[in-house]
Amino acid sequence: MAKLLVTGGAGFIGANFVHYWTRTHPGDRVVVLDALTYAGHLASLDPLQESATFRFVHGSIGDQARVQSLLRDEAIDTIVNFAAESHVDRSISAADVFLETNVLGTHTLLKAARQVWIDEGRAPDHRFHQISTDEVYGSLGPDDPAFTESTPCAPSSPYSASKAAADHLVRAYGHTYGLGVTTSRCSNNYGPYQFPEKLIPLVIVNILAGKPLPIYGDGLNVRDWLHVGDHCRGLERILTQGAPGEIYNLGGSSECDNLSLVETLCGILDERFASDASLKSRFPDAAPARDQASTKLIRFVTDRPGHDRRYAIDAGRISRELGFSPSLSLTQGLRQTVAWYLENEAWWRGVMDSSYREWIDRHYR
Ligand code: NAD
Ligand code: TYD
Repeated sequence: MAKLLVTGGAGFIGANFVHYWTRTHPGDRVVVLDALTYAGHLASLDPLQESATFRFVHGSIGDQARVQSLLRDEAIDTIVNFAAESHVDRSISAADVFLETNVLGTHTLLKAARQVWIDEGRAPDHRFHQISTDEVYGSLGPDDPAFTESTPCAPSSPYSASKAAADHLVRAYGHTYGLGVTTSRCSNNYGPYQFPEKLIPLVIVNILAGKPLPIYGDGLNVRDWLHVGDHCRGLERILTQGAPGEIYNLGGSSECDNLSLVETLCGILDERFASDASLKSRFPDAAPARDQASTKLIRFVTDRPGHDRRYAIDAGRISRELGFSPSLSLTQGLRQTVAWYLENEAWWRGVMDSSYREWIDRHYR
């Protein structure tokens, strides 16, 4: 039985991972450590609070003494580090906290793991898994080959630079101190519990509220989209079968430009309104509630500074070596995601508090 510390487990991907892991490994102990920043929501973990194998701890990865106590008290043998500041636009307007959390916080977590697992000899068989991003590789041109694990890091935003720095520290702790590390670099995720400041949930909730759908620049920037459930399945493969010291790319093989993605979401929502009359009374401000196409809400807005043009992942290694490939197509995943947001209105209304509204007002003014 493994004993996991999941840092950042109240955020979008972390919460999905905790749900996935407790479902698929019911005997394992899962401790979540999360600072509950604006992006961390206890409500995302609500269904687990009664479970005897689950524990939530409110705290920071930057608190070494606290982390060390947790590692000892809970006899943790696996750390999965999701904790991060994760929003590129926020990193452009205020970078400091990205360095504090993503770089220094990860380093503190590495120091704590080294101290307890290696220096104190408490977990000779251990794993420190770092959740990274394809954004560390930088931007691709339209015809460039997709990123492989040996593509050099060339981050272009303060966010991706901080994630690349953390990756280098993780590698160094493996090489220098013999810490059992693995790293995954994943493409853009979407699915349940994603905070509506990222493109897909922002577009869904704005369609439902009849608000503009902001598209940066010409809308032709390309991302590779992976459903978060498939990300969790890939992580499970790496944690159970991945080789220490290795990096694994994870992607959805679903490249799509932003404008096409938003148009697809508009079409899915319009269809849902056409087939379910109750949606008109629940969301009377939505364009399809007034018999208009949601695409009418699309607005081209000022581009993000330094906006990476294209990300594409070559996920050949994890497919060949660990037998993993995603199960959902982008269209299937988007339909499921729209359905989740329609069924979980209380969750997304609950997380869109005053700090959310301040960010939206400031960023899109
Ligand atoms: P998120 O912003 O939704 O969640 C981050 C979580 O970390 C929040 O719960 C927050 O409260 C917590 N946190 C922040 N600072 C902390 C600290 N000092 N100590 C403890 N907890 C802290 O992010 P996400 O989208 O779930 O991303 C999770 C990880 O996956 C990040 O490392 C991100 O870089 C990486 N990633 C995300 C994507 C994506 O598309 N969302 C893609 C690839 C990689
Ligand atoms: P985002 O969800 O912020 O993820 P990332 O920047 O990590 O890729 O953005 C996805 C894409 O959507 C990215 O190219 C920026 C673009 N975008 C918009 O066009 N409008 C928006 O309001 C947002 C938030 C993002």
